[in-house]
Amino acid sequence: MMNSAFSYINNSTNVRILHTNEPQPEPASAATEEPHLLIRPLQPSDASGVQAAFERMSPLSRYYRFHSGLRRLPDSMLHYLTHVDGIDHVALVAIERWGSLPPVGVGIARFVRLAQAPDTAELAIAVVDQAQGRGIGRRLLQELAVVARAHGVSTFTMAVLAGNRRVRHLLAGLGASGSGTDASVIDYRVPVAALEVPASRAHLLA
Ligand SMILES: CC(C)(COP(=O)(O)OP(=O)(O)OC[C@H]1O[C@@H](n2cnc3c(N)ncnc32)[C@H](O)[C@@H]1OP(=O)(O)O)[C@@H](O)C(=O)NCCC(=O)NCCS
Repeated sequence: MMNSAFSYINNSTNVRILHTNEPQPEPASAATEEPHLLIRPLQPSDASGVQAAFERMSPLSRYYRFHSGLRRLPDSMLHYLTHVDGIDHVALVAIERWGSLPPVGVGIARFVRLAQAPDTAELAIAVVDQAQGRGIGRRLLQELAVVARAHGVSTFTMAVLAGNRRVRHLLAGLGASGSGTDASVIDYRVPVAALEVPASRAHLLA
């Protein structure tokens, strides 16, 4: 069950996930119309889209996200990733719409509360390769932070592969601190408050 903090987000059932071999929207549509980004809670019915997106992400992005070389999400993992409770395990999906083209799922961010430290949650995020570098990851984190704070989560943790320069850059910009005995993985702690709250959503913290 999702908390009422999500009531401002429209649910969309007409979602498809961007395939890496699909053409990008024509520049002309971008020139004439701004893309509309919808961020909403992930639903169990998104499972097939999540699997499709995973299979079509670049091997490097998959590796950075899951720290493994899996080519397909096992059914048990897919079930876990898409059946969230909205309180201790929250996942948001970003859906982009360009003009009259069908909506496209472009990213997911989630947190899972730590049982031993309820004010802390493990953070994970992925944006499909073609949509990276356009601010969607940052926006997903902002929205996830709104939900986290509403549920009493004040710190995100994240285990980041040392070679993942993009997410390290993103975390450094948020004032996150990193540590780790294993040089290949850096354990970050991110204060949720460091994530900017979009003004239009600030009332949700009241
Ligand atoms: C990490 C990830 C989610 C970022 O999503 P994104 O939509 O590309 O991020 P944004 O566009 O919001 O950019 C975030 C920051 O990364 C920076 N960035 C973008 N491309 C970069 C690159 N090639 N190298 C270094 N930094 C880069 C941006 O400049 C931005 O920082 P800024 O706002 O200070 O300029 C995305 O790259 C991804 O899915 N990577 C694979 C999975 C992964 O690594 N997940 C994290 C571990 S769970």
